[in-house]
Amino acid sequence: MRDPNAPPIRLLLVEDNPGDARLVRLLLAEAGGFEFNHVETMAAAKAWLDGNGAEAVLLDLSLPDSHGLETIDRMRRLAPLMPIIVFTGLADEDTGVAAVKRGCQDYLVKGVGDGHMISRTVLYAIERKTLEVERQQSAERMKKVLLQTVRAMSLTLEMRDPYTAGHQRRVAQLAVAIGRHMGWSEHTLEGLQTGALIHDLGKINVPSDFLSRPGKLSDAAFGVVRSHAAVGAEIVEGIDFPWPVAAMIRQHHERLDGSGYPLGLVGSQIIPEARILAVADVVEAISSHRPYRPALGMEAALSEIRDHTVTRYDPEVVEACLAVIRTEGEAVFGEAALGH
Ligand SMILES: [Fe+2]
Repeated sequence: MRDPNAPPIRLLLVEDNPGDARLVRLLLAEAGGFEFNHVETMAAAKAWLDGNGAEAVLLDLSLPDSHGLETIDRMRRLAPLMPIIVFTGLADEDTGVAAVKRGCQDYLVKGVGDGHMISRTVLYAIERKTLEVERQQSAERMKKVLLQTVRAMSLTLEMRDPYTAGHQRRVAQLAVAIGRHMGWSEHTLEGLQTGALIHDLGKINVPSDFLSRPGKLSDAAFGVVRSHAAVGAEIVEGIDFPWPVAAMIRQHHERLDGSGYPLGLVGSQIIPEARILAVADVVEAISSHRPYRPALGMEAALSEIRDHTVTRYDPEVVEACLAVIRTEGEAVFGEAALGH
């Protein structure tokens, strides 16, 4: 039972049939606890919500200025945080179910049930919407914290190895641009960004002298440098990322023809994310300054991927990378690929 001292719930009925509206008004007055408001069109609903607001909307789906399930989309755009209960005249379960799938909290069939049932339905809809919004906000907060943590890991490595400062961030920007050009979803791109931001994490285990030494390394030292791919993967293996981040890190130096390391994987044994990372990594590395040589420039970087497309690099990724650099130039290494 509702608290008798709770303030009335401000409800907006959007319904063009006066008989139906009158009936709901009567039934709700009987049940009590509502401030009942009524408009007849979508345009009037917008004006009402802009001026007065409401805690829930009871929505008829055939209005003079809006018809069918599209009405729900329009209402959600008007008031994204508002619980919506569809008020359908068709004694048709399917419309109700479709409405809920479309983002409504519940539905009522006209002429079915008394005031208490309508009241209960509205109260549950408000409750459900509140939980939905809270769940969404907490998921977004978690995602943000995860990305901030990954960025902190990325910076930790780059503080120790200042010669490659910014490398992982720039690789992430380019990789995401390539993935986006290839039509990947935002979720997959978030994973790609995560893997890219820490793809060299295993270098934490490589003496910094090996990383910054000009000139050629001995075979033994080079072996240690190459171990960073497997070491980085081992470090993150225990983290339950919603993406194959460990595999991205382990495979970012693999090449399609098996000439890469650590495993010498070939072709489709290399996951798609790692095939993008390989290209973004090489393009960023060649086009920027390194301790053992000055920057070779973007043209040299693009020649490397063009000359070794199919053998080392996935041709589709090379194609996408060339297109991205052609349109965006070096600005692609700039800020905020995913808007965080
Ligand atoms: Fe690497």
